[in-house]
Amino acid sequence: MQKSWLRNGVLATVSVYALAVSCFLFGSVSGHGQSLTGRWMVVAKPLDNGEQPKSLIELKQNGNELTGTMKNLDYTVQMKGTATGSHFELFAAWSATRPFLVGDLVNGELHGIERGHHNLVATPAAATVDIPSVSYIEPPPLQKVPGNDLAKTPPMGWNSWNLFAGKIDDQTVRTMADAMVSSGMRDAGYIYVNIDDTWEGVRDAQGNLQSNHKFPDMKALSDYVHSKGLKLGIYSSPGPRTCAGYPASYGHEEQDAKTFASWGIDYLKYDWCSARNIYKNDALQPVYQKMGAALKSTGRPIVYSLCEYGWGNVEKWGTEVGGNLWRTTGDIRDEWSSMIGNVEQQVPTAPYAGPGHWNDPDMLEVGNGHMTDDEYRSHMSLWALTAAPLLAGNDVRDMTPVTKSILLNKEVIAVDQDSLGKQASPIKNGDLETWVKPMADGGVAVGVVNLGATPSDATIHLTDLHLNRVKKAHDLWAHKDVKFTGGAYSAPVPSHGVLLLRVN
Ligand code: GLA
Repeated sequence: MQKSWLRNGVLATVSVYALAVSCFLFGSVSGHGQSLTGRWMVVAKPLDNGEQPKSLIELKQNGNELTGTMKNLDYTVQMKGTATGSHFELFAAWSATRPFLVGDLVNGELHGIERGHHNLVATPAAATVDIPSVSYIEPPPLQKVPGNDLAKTPPMGWNSWNLFAGKIDDQTVRTMADAMVSSGMRDAGYIYVNIDDTWEGVRDAQGNLQSNHKFPDMKALSDYVHSKGLKLGIYSSPGPRTCAGYPASYGHEEQDAKTFASWGIDYLKYDWCSARNIYKNDALQPVYQKMGAALKSTGRPIVYSLCEYGWGNVEKWGTEVGGNLWRTTGDIRDEWSSMIGNVEQQVPTAPYAGPGHWNDPDMLEVGNGHMTDDEYRSHMSLWALTAAPLLAGNDVRDMTPVTKSILLNKEVIAVDQDSLGKQASPIKNGDLETWVKPMADGGVAVGVVNLGATPSDATIHLTDLHLNRVKKAHDLWAHKDVKFTGGAYSAPVPSHGVLLLRVN
């Protein structure tokens, strides 16, 4: 829910106003003159763990002035705004332009939109109904978490979110693990099978987080995944709730880290989400440190993936908290502009990538069907050039030959996995963007991506590569050696396509 707010902010805001205006014009507003003062309850759709999240809205109307709070397991927000007839608009302290809650009183119910994207209906709540507030936990003092010696090269694997989102379960993960082996993905280096959000159950009487009915036995699942020569990853959040609204690790960091270790988990993606309702960005480092230290103290090697969208200059302190990789951007979508936008956004982070600590422009969309083959080749090339984690996000049980040829291109994977661990930067902008990655063998990988709408000839000059002469140049998509003449090599590149060479 929150993610779509992050992703579609502008669009969602527009639709709020469209809805408000149409309600007004077409007369669905009723109860003119009624007061909004009172307590209102919102009951959301049931989660896969059987919980049905509730929110309590308490409002006080004084003429046109409206004040109130909205409270649920995620947050308590103070709001201020106006009521005009039956229409109301309420703003949180951090934005005077974008309403936190906007809506109308319709037949004794509040029909509203929260944060620009989330429709809700609130009915009058009895005076006895309450929701416990989330208490504030002081973040720990800063202290370096010793490294875990993992992820010497960018992590490779598969993650459930891009394709399955909330529709992931034990059986799907098992069949995916089988396919990682039969498709050759595992042998190409894709080792981690990562379960993203929505696996969470509720806490037991001792506070131990259990999995929900979709994952009846996590330990058995991890045994299965391990028996295939793969590793298992899981997901949580430093806030009370994950992005999809499930219980998360706030106040249970050590306990959850132990649980994950006891299940045989090898990788944790830790997603900020509802923590932003409790902490400001200056708490990012100590809060991430808390889980880093908890993972470390389990004694189990667990790759630690920070997911906080690149906030607070994470690249500068990610290793201090024991992180092996950190997201540098918002969520990727299976479209060209999103993919290019993400990789370009992380350009300034290049100096901070290296063995054990990587910048993460988000998971791969290759094979999910909304980009062209050329665009997917550019996607894979750019992730390899920038030493990004390669976490496939498609259905590896059912890959077209082209998808396979992209994800399983060993020469491109070798660029990503190069032991020097340098993140390429663009050395030439414009429609033909040229990215150069120094390699451990003294040579370079160079990619020219055609951002333009028409085919173009790309030219790579030896001077751009800081090389005097070429011993060998190899085209990693055409799988053939090429020849530099007069200090340059030219080749046609389709719109949104890529030319990727390794030059020694
Ligand atoms: C956030 C993350 C995504 C995914 C979802 C799950 O949006 O950035 O990668 O993990 O949460 O709810």
